Amino acid sequence: MIFYVNGEYVPREKAAISPEDRGFLFGDAIYEVVRFFRGRAFHLEEHLARMQEGLAALRIAAEASFYPEVAQELLRRNGLDEADAIVYTQVSRGAAPRTHAFPPEGTRPTIFAFARASDPLPPPAGGRAILAPDERWGRCDIKTVMLLPNVLAAQRAREAGALDAILVRDGIAIEGTRSNLFAVIGGVVRTAPNGPRILPGVTRGATLAAARALGLTTEERSFTVEEMFAASEVFFASTTLWTYSLVEVDGRVIGDGRPGPVAVRLKEALLGEFRGS
Ligand code: PDD
Repeated sequence: MIFYVNGEYVPREKAAISPEDRGFLFGDAIYEVVRFFRGRAFHLEEHLARMQEGLAALRIAAEASFYPEVAQELLRRNGLDEADAIVYTQVSRGAAPRTHAFPPEGTRPTIFAFARASDPLPPPAGGRAILAPDERWGRCDIKTVMLLPNVLAAQRAREAGALDAILVRDGIAIEGTRSNLFAVIGGVVRTAPNGPRILPGVTRGATLAAARALGLTTEERSFTVEEMFAASEVFFASTTLWTYSLVEVDGRVIGDGRPGPVAVRLKEALLGEFRGS
């Protein structure tokens, strides 16, 4: 496996990042996960725009424009140019002696990336989720690597034998630990509005567009846990899952306990777009 670190392509064993890297010390970094099929990215421009906005929000002096070429080179060097693959990248504020405020001017951001084959999708029968309190900070719209609340909630889900946790704040079902959350309520495809409480998911945007193209009504309005339990469908949306139906949440059956037609049609639409059919 060949990694990219600060301008060089190196075997995984040789890839090294300083222990003084601020990504390591403070979670002072952003990341992106983009999906590729035969070297073609799904909605690359949106990923780049989100990356650039994250860098600007954190005032990290780097440009997202490095990414497209690095991604292609990683796919090629890892024999993934014909595959369904993801390219992960992370940009930190760089390495410097530990002090909370920014390091000296001119400290070079650390840029790291790797490519790997996409994980197989979970079984088509749909998944189970648990509910967990949303303990994240107030800027969930920035894709930082500061993911400890997500990690702890995901682990709770795993220990409960569930696919993931739905993060809940003030009675609102916000999103998953690594995906956005949708529900079909009264025939309307609903998801939380963009803002500081959720990540503006690229798949979320593509899902809303696909729903409209299919003639479905969409609404960007948060729903409560109670509304979710009464929904005919609940599903996650992300780069790694596409749309994925939840058939049970916290032990309560959603709809008729099987993946509903909306999530399935949306997934087919997204996959069709991705694979260029
Ligand atoms: N996660 N919400 C959260 C909290 C996420 O971490 C993600 C993505 C999404 C969906 O965003 P997108 O559709 O752009 O992938 C929503 C990535 C895949 C991850 O952390 O691995």
